[in-house]
Amino acid sequence: MTELSPRLRTASITEMAEYVLPQHANVFGTVFGGQIMAWVDLCAVICAQRHSGRPCVTASVDDLLFRRPVRVGQVVRLRAQITAAFRTSMEIEVRVTGEATTTGEEWPTVECFATFVAMSDELRPTPVPPLLLQSDADVLAQAAAEGRRRARLAKR
Ligand SMILES: CC(C)(COP(=O)(O)OP(=O)(O)OC[C@H]1O[C@@H](n2cnc3c(N)ncnc32)[C@H](O)[C@@H]1OP(=O)(O)O)[C@@H](O)C(=O)NCCC(=O)NCCS
Repeated sequence: MTELSPRLRTASITEMAEYVLPQHANVFGTVFGGQIMAWVDLCAVICAQRHSGRPCVTASVDDLLFRRPVRVGQVVRLRAQITAAFRTSMEIEVRVTGEATTTGEEWPTVECFATFVAMSDELRPTPVPPLLLQSDADVLAQAAAEGRRRARLAKR
């Protein structure tokens, strides 16, 4: 198996849980949007680096919509998975949920797509392994990602 052999989507899935402390919160006692964005970026870059086997930089993050807040004492859960591998870039989907550990309640907070570029030792974009598409859902996810990529690159 070479460095650029196709890799499974499941091989790079990344999950994180963050306990919300006062230093993460705004004056309303809920997590800062910027803190959620930082956790999204971290979860996604781990996923991108697991897939590519290279250090990666964030090229773009698509629209973020904050659906429902998460309070101090609750938990922010993040799950990142690759939806498409292009030449040197990858689209990563991140789903964020809030969790009240004492009641078991869970709710969607943010969903977004971010693009990461793998970097060579010379700090230039470098090719990434293709994504091994195993199911119809994987094929549909890749096709949807290609549509989003066209729209996002048209904005540059
Ligand atoms: C992202 C970056 C590496 C692209 O470099 P570049 O010189 O434009 O290189 P290229 O034109 O060859 O593009 C490389 C890849 O980035 C993708 N890309 C570039 N800009 C993009 C954008 N705004 N959104 C999504 N993908 C983008 C290209 O489509 C290409 O992907 P592909 O090889 O899969 O087709 C460069 O713009 C950069 O370093 N940006 C700053 C990154 C940063 O500081 N992030 C925050 C800290 S990690």
